[in-house]
Amino acid sequence: MRDPYLYKNTNVLINKFHIKDQSFLQDAEADYVVFRLKELALHPMKGSYDSRHFLKMHEFIFQDLFEWAGQVRTVPIYKEEEVLGGMSIEYSQPEEIRGDLETVLWDIPDRDWAHMSREAIRDQLSDTVAALWKIHPFREGNTRTTITFCCQYADEFGFHINRKLFEDNAAYVRTALVAYNAYFSDGCDFSKKEYLRRIVGDALE
Ligand SMILES: Nc1ncnc2c1ncn2[C@@H]1O[C@H](COP(=O)(O)OP(=O)(O)OP(=O)(O)O)[C@@H](O)[C@H]1O
Ligand SMILES: [Mg+2]
Repeated sequence: MRDPYLYKNTNVLINKFHIKDQSFLQDAEADYVVFRLKELALHPMKGSYDSRHFLKMHEFIFQDLFEWAGQVRTVPIYKEEEVLGGMSIEYSQPEEIRGDLETVLWDIPDRDWAHMSREAIRDQLSDTVAALWKIHPFREGNTRTTITFCCQYADEFGFHINRKLFEDNAAYVRTALVAYNAYFSDGCDFSKKEYLRRIVGDALE
């Protein structure tokens, strides 16, 4: 099936600048996204950490680039992972995305962080980051949106989280998210939680 998000016969996402060269688009994307992420760090986006808030955050970060910013994808996502011998994480199907977001986020505003141990806080935050990421609600920009949303949440609930650590170790974070979510509907489970927990724990120090 042809991917409706791409310019014909290319791997380049249709964008507001009509850029059809992948490396130019990457440069433009990096510039605009960094600008929007800085704005968000200075002025957190108000909301109640529900799925609407999550979608709005993606819309804000990617508003300069894609018409569909803030909208859930209409196509399945399959990404071959070297660390999984070429298999893909089982991301949510398009029709499951809204329900899966509700399931992950339903109790997040009510968690009693004040009475949890450091390990429990680290593990619960890691679980939420990983579960949101496994949904992959958007055609592009899932990692940046997930990390930004969870960092803002952690800040608002009284933790001082080091966002730069995630930014500076983006490749590690992505591999850690793949490792965390390496379980499959056929029962195979290669999941390893320690890598994500390590960086989330460090970011919370
Ligand atoms: N937390 C972050 N803050 C700033 N930049 C990030 C962050 N995480 C990743 N990046 C950068 O964003 C670019 C795209 O990364 P990547 O494609 O892995 O994530 P994504 O586009 O947000 O999510 P996905 O492709 O999984 O939908 C990379 O250049 C990466 O270095
Ligand atoms: Mg990407």
